[in-house]
Amino acid sequence: MHDILNDSRFEHIKPFSSKIWLSSPTMHGEEQRWVDDAIKTNWVSTVGANINAVEQQIAEYIGVKYAVGLSCGTAALHLATKLAAERLYGQARPNEGTLHGHRVFCSDVTFDASINPVAYEDGEAVFIDTEYDTWNMSPQALEKAFELYPEVKLVVVAHLYGTPGKMDEIKKICDAHGALIVEDAAESLGAKYKLNGEWVETGTLGAYNCISFNGNKIITGSAGGMFLTDSKEDADKVRKWSTQSREAAPWYQHEEIGYNYRMSNIIAGVIRGQIPYLDEHIAQKRAIWARYEQGLRDLPVRMNPWDREKSKPNFWLSCMIIDEDAMAPTVRGEQDYLYKSVSGKSSPHEILDALAAFNAEGRPIWKPMHMQPIYRTHAFVTVEGNGRGRSNAYIAGSGVDVGADIFRRGLCLPSDNKMTAEQQDAIIDIIHRCFV
Ligand SMILES: Cc1ncc(COP(=O)(O)O)c(C=O)c1O
Repeated sequence: MHDILNDSRFEHIKPFSSKIWLSSPTMHGEEQRWVDDAIKTNWVSTVGANINAVEQQIAEYIGVKYAVGLSCGTAALHLATKLAAERLYGQARPNEGTLHGHRVFCSDVTFDASINPVAYEDGEAVFIDTEYDTWNMSPQALEKAFELYPEVKLVVVAHLYGTPGKMDEIKKICDAHGALIVEDAAESLGAKYKLNGEWVETGTLGAYNCISFNGNKIITGSAGGMFLTDSKEDADKVRKWSTQSREAAPWYQHEEIGYNYRMSNIIAGVIRGQIPYLDEHIAQKRAIWARYEQGLRDLPVRMNPWDREKSKPNFWLSCMIIDEDAMAPTVRGEQDYLYKSVSGKSSPHEILDALAAFNAEGRPIWKPMHMQPIYRTHAFVTVEGNGRGRSNAYIAGSGVDVGADIFRRGLCLPSDNKMTAEQQDAIIDIIHRCFV
């Protein structure tokens, strides 16, 4: 790390007295009431009034018939993926995953929880490159992937940082190939998308849909997640699987593998207190994004983009990407990095180091799944087709890899909705000084 505090570019800047977080929980007081209620009434379990209330309120907000409360978004994604796989390929033996021997197309620039359930179920994720317009799955690359792997019937799609992807195109391509969508709306709760001329919520766009109430999300229960659906049968199946797949017998009787994935009534109490503030949080995050956009306008950078006609993001995280010709040299290893300070230029790590030196938290862009050591042997498809093995001593290769490029040049900015305008101005000032 460079000695930022003794760097003359940052002269007279004082560290924030309390840390400015990337995105921390924002409590309002009502959370305590519902948690206390659960304790006073002794519903300290995975059943109770808070769970019933949040399932009903979220189903209403999103516009689905059923919301099933689960322990986390990852659990929702696991059961959603398993439901899709059973519908496509049938029930598996107890010691085998339902995706055994099958490929699944997956968003590439996302948190690994989106796509790990494919591995939990013995499937093989094939990563689909990203597009620059929304930083989500590229419909063109998805088309290419169906050319390469026409047998694929399942696609896991995430909306990065709360910005909806190009879902009309993605849905059309999936429909044309008879493929089902698992939608990961963990980061995009409250984001809207215009589908066939009508505004709908993310979390309604797949055959199986998931959200998260993780501590860093737009509203939180400290943990928690939900499976969203219009199908009673699917909702009931997820309820069954999430409570150890107990049959209606007087003793513990099991015909299927089960999981302990149900939401706690205490956690549901926190979520119950948060739901009334979802729209307020979105408005605050939107204002943060707009303030960055205005404040960084004179720098060789752009904010994370979104489709203004077809989407209303929830602006969960504000991000920026540095223009190629303003990138100072940087190298990344597996766990470390080096960069040079160059006048008029900067790099994600210089900015992140500067923010950290003054007690503010940013984060690198989520490292693409196809670059993760665990998934390096998995296929990766770009707009040009197979994204692996494109070059060697004899083949120049075009190097199209949008996800790697956004990871290289981008970063997530402090996006906490408790950050004041003055604090955000100070962050914008620090970023400017990185380019001096
Ligand atoms: C895109 C995405 N999917 C899934 C998850 C997993 O959710 P959870 O932490 O609730 O398991 C997260 C974040 O945590 C996420 O950002």
